[in-house]
Amino acid sequence: MQLLHNVNLKEYNTFHISENASFFTTIHSATELIEILSYNESKRSRIQFIGGGSNILLTKTLEGITVLNKLKGIQLLSENEDTAIVQFMSGESWHECVMWCVSNGLGGVENLSLIPGTIGAAPIQNIGAYGVELKDVFVSCEAIHLVSQERKTFSLEECQFGYRESIFKTKEKGNYFILSVTLCLQKKPTFKIEYGDIKHILATKFNNHVSIESISKAVIEIRSSKLPDPKVIGNAGSFFKNPVITKQLFDTLLSQYPQLPNYPAENGIKIPAGWLIEQCGWKGYKVDKIGVHERQALVLVNFSDAEGSAIYQLSEQIIISVQQRFNITLEREVNIW
Ligand code: EPU
Repeated sequence: MQLLHNVNLKEYNTFHISENASFFTTIHSATELIEILSYNESKRSRIQFIGGGSNILLTKTLEGITVLNKLKGIQLLSENEDTAIVQFMSGESWHECVMWCVSNGLGGVENLSLIPGTIGAAPIQNIGAYGVELKDVFVSCEAIHLVSQERKTFSLEECQFGYRESIFKTKEKGNYFILSVTLCLQKKPTFKIEYGDIKHILATKFNNHVSIESISKAVIEIRSSKLPDPKVIGNAGSFFKNPVITKQLFDTLLSQYPQLPNYPAENGIKIPAGWLIEQCGWKGYKVDKIGVHERQALVLVNFSDAEGSAIYQLSEQIIISVQQRFNITLEREVNIW
């Protein structure tokens, strides 16, 4: 185990914020994880894990030990003529695993192409895009308890998935390290092409040919056209969740804003936060080194060398203006560290 002191994290977070980790190490196996947990047993320092660094905003030096997850491996556990059960180690890149599925003719995750981040982060917020969520293909995940060091397998039900929610953000927040995620993939998939522009792109660019590969390519095209590439402009995807509001508030707002976009949700009506933010005049906003993306108002950006606290302040201002205008309180999707 090599514990480095004062390591700059700029290349380990997609916002490209330059903050240090007091102590930093990289792990490649469960054994190395146990080693660092055991080392820390008596010290009881704070431990935080970084995968792709695509859902965090660094606002200060990270005290304690920051652990970079590099657990790699993809294993076919079982298959029959319809499905394949595959285990992905948590440090694998999510998108590279989707590409692996696409090239092996396995369906279910093609709509989730190009989502940044690692496999291990996927269950924490039940990643989702274009009508599909992780929970739709999820079988289980194996995790290690950070204090007892016991291994536990969480089933689909035990994960308590909701919209950008899971037990790892609520009851078990910060208690576990996810080692691997097992998915059930389809050899004869039912495609989901209703959401957004997928159908349109399939018609105009793929001659209406619907396949795992063409959907993946269409999603990559839509995402690339709307969302800034973190390699070019620092960002962490959607900064806020789409709020779910009551029918009563929805009716009031609809009478004022007849064009209010909305989708049915489990416990109310979901409104795209991007629309609310755009209505408040933030879309394309730029001040100094930070701003709101010009093609998707849900994405806050670091144009160059911004402080994380400046982006946090901007998110506060946005929350206040949406609250004042629509009486809706936006919740951050990105974790503030
Ligand atoms: N809209 C605007 N202005 C904007 C952005 C959006 O008016 O600047 C409105 C439009 O009415 C548009 C609607 O919002 O039709 C929906 O926009 P979009 O399809 O881009 O999706 P979203 O609801 O803004 C969610 C996810 C994205 C995911 C897309 C596609 C959340 C918080 N975000 O965004 O996830 O890629 O759907 O499924 O649920 C992420 O989590 O990082 C992420 C990018």
